[in-house]
Amino acid sequence: MLDKLLYIETFGCQMNVNDSERIVSMLADLGYAPTNEPSAADMILLNTCSVRGGAEEKVYRRLANLRIYKRDGKQQIIAVGGCVAQQEGEELLRKLPYLDLVIGTHNLHLLPDMVRGAERGERRSETTFIDNDQRLDLFPSIKGESRLSRFVTVMQGCDNFCSYCIVPFVRGREISRRSADILHEVRQLAHEGVREVILLGQNVNSYGLKSDNEPTFADLIRQVADVDGIQRIRFTTSHPKDMSDELIACFGDVPKLSGQMHLPAQSGSDSVLKAMGRGYTRDSYLDKVHKLRAIRPDMVFTGDIIVGFPGESPADFEQTLSLMEEVRYIDLFSFVYSPRPGTRAADLADDLPRAEKMARLDRLMDLQRRITREISHTYIGSTMSVLVEGEGKLPGQVSGKGDIGRIVNFSGDSSLIGRFVDVRITKAYPNSLLGEL
Ligand code: SAH
Ligand code: SF4
Ligand code: F3S
Repeated sequence: MLDKLLYIETFGCQMNVNDSERIVSMLADLGYAPTNEPSAADMILLNTCSVRGGAEEKVYRRLANLRIYKRDGKQQIIAVGGCVAQQEGEELLRKLPYLDLVIGTHNLHLLPDMVRGAERGERRSETTFIDNDQRLDLFPSIKGESRLSRFVTVMQGCDNFCSYCIVPFVRGREISRRSADILHEVRQLAHEGVREVILLGQNVNSYGLKSDNEPTFADLIRQVADVDGIQRIRFTTSHPKDMSDELIACFGDVPKLSGQMHLPAQSGSDSVLKAMGRGYTRDSYLDKVHKLRAIRPDMVFTGDIIVGFPGESPADFEQTLSLMEEVRYIDLFSFVYSPRPGTRAADLADDLPRAEKMARLDRLMDLQRRITREISHTYIGSTMSVLVEGEGKLPGQVSGKGDIGRIVNFSGDSSLIGRFVDVRITKAYPNSLLGEL
């Protein structure tokens, strides 16, 4: 019986979004139903991100606010999960006397036990990494309601230790999930009506490389493509240095593979890339982009860029802008560099004035808005295969995504939901396209 209420707030990347879904389904077994109202909740959980300093501060502020609810006299469990939990561990319990549970990124399987304990007033922190390769506990399947497009985790963690990045410290070493389990989950999802899967990991291209008996990522994609019912495959995130020719070839001969790829460059300058420890140069990055476009001319890229990395000169920054002009990303996620404790870059002098960093970010975003607009306009008049996922923004409209990952709204009734249909694009907006069936 669902007689208690659970309120979850999720920060950060898709890993956390996925984990939150798992948490909801695990705690349903303990009688918790999700609610959007923190003051009514019997348990509040923040699933946190620590990739940039700002995100972490946000969590502390949010917890301070949530304390108000706890003081209302109601017995309420307050829990912190995700990457800040992993980073801070027991320290959080010490700092925040009203906090009950701290649950690390490898410890979700302990949550039911921890919550039962907390219901009896026990405070507990669990942040031990699982190093045993292919522990199934890291990848419990999600029971959530069937939707048309689902994320399927294929690997966890990261071994790259880019000099600025906290992720390897809070998500642990790369662990690939067994391909048999991945395929089992994909088949089950297809059976439930899912039409698109997005293979998820911090660095999906190095899937399986640590194990002799698992396929490469390219082979895994081919196996997923063989699953009946699955009509489109995407993946995220790719590290450019691990983008193999074998994987590039998939874009030529696996029609189910989406023509949109997230391929973070971080910078267009060789000296900055070197200081970041990214393991590729501007030229080798562009070489992969060109190879992919040679195989699939309509390929579109999205990316991540960090602005104001320590030592980034005006000339380095110009190199980043020119890389953007060359790749012509359809969308770009740009971040001001934020030093993270324990990372190698944290020891570098971060002496660029904040105003200069913001001015660079503004220029970069202006350029990106122009490129996005220009690319979007080239789609006007073309026809796209759209997976209709739900009602559109306006009455009488439905909405879905085309192969290039952009949202497309068009007039149509809800009987189209779940189908791939051809839509002619008539108008381009900054974040979506308008079309007609
Ligand atoms: N595994 C993925 C993404 C990791 S985090 C990858 O390697 O691409 C998502 C993005 O956050 C990164 O691509 C990077 O652009 C940004 N990021 C990570 N650490 C950062 C930091 N210390 N300061 C600013 N941005 C950062
Ligand atoms: Fe962070 Fe680099 Fe790993 Fe991405 S590849 S998660 S940026 S260390
Ligand atoms: Fe943030 Fe953790 Fe993801 S630090 S970006 S939630 S892996």
